[in-house]
Amino acid sequence: MRVAILPDEAAIGRIGADAVERLYARKPQAVLGLATGSSPLPIYQELIARHRAGRISFARGRAFALDEYVGLSPQHPQSYRQVIRTSIADHVDFPEGAVRGPEGWAEDLDAAAADYDRAIRDAGGVDLQILGIGADGHIAFNEPGGSLASRTHRGFLTAQTIRDNARFFDGDISQVPAQCLTQGIATIMEARSLVLVATGGNKAEAVRQMVEGAVSASWPATVLQFHPDALVLVDEEAAARL
Ligand code: GLP
Repeated sequence: MRVAILPDEAAIGRIGADAVERLYARKPQAVLGLATGSSPLPIYQELIARHRAGRISFARGRAFALDEYVGLSPQHPQSYRQVIRTSIADHVDFPEGAVRGPEGWAEDLDAAAADYDRAIRDAGGVDLQILGIGADGHIAFNEPGGSLASRTHRGFLTAQTIRDNARFFDGDISQVPAQCLTQGIATIMEARSLVLVATGGNKAEAVRQMVEGAVSASWPATVLQFHPDALVLVDEEAAARL
């Protein structure tokens, strides 16, 4: 695991976008893994700017989102399908249908989870996965205590994650879904490279555990210590306990 402590979000955006730009220059049909949340937004903004400047094209690419709420319609503005669209997919040139996410509105959620995991494999796997991290050390929606060998599955959000994510639902925790469909830890670990972004002091303990802690399901992100090509981009606040 390589850790870069950077001065601000703009620097994080540039370094993250550099990794994506290099990938698509080498492999135009690459598969990108997209995360929601606020952490990856500087990378997306930089990618959109570079796309507009003609530096990067996704016209032969594909993308898979990490996770989705269960209980929101795909049209809900806070469904991750919509968030991925508005934060990046609608602003670059992925072909129609090339950006997918888990279908948290499916009637048979277990079948939807298995289908999604298979679709990622059928696409040849994710070349570069962008990740955030929860304050409790979750990645995607793999909360503490879950299996480190999990594939895409349905799961529950912890009380802390529901509180943290209430900011996207006008601060109303009763509006935050309690369930999700998420890529599993093993699914995420199969990505050929990972770029994880963490900013702000409320991520400092999760970052310390991820980088320096014992590998444990109590802090799911610690498993990334085993990944052969993981880059962690943090600001000074998130790095404060390293
Ligand atoms: C959510 C998402 C994660 C994300 C995390 C951190 O619960 N499921 O994929 O990494 O929260 O979000 P943020 O980057 O907004 O702090």
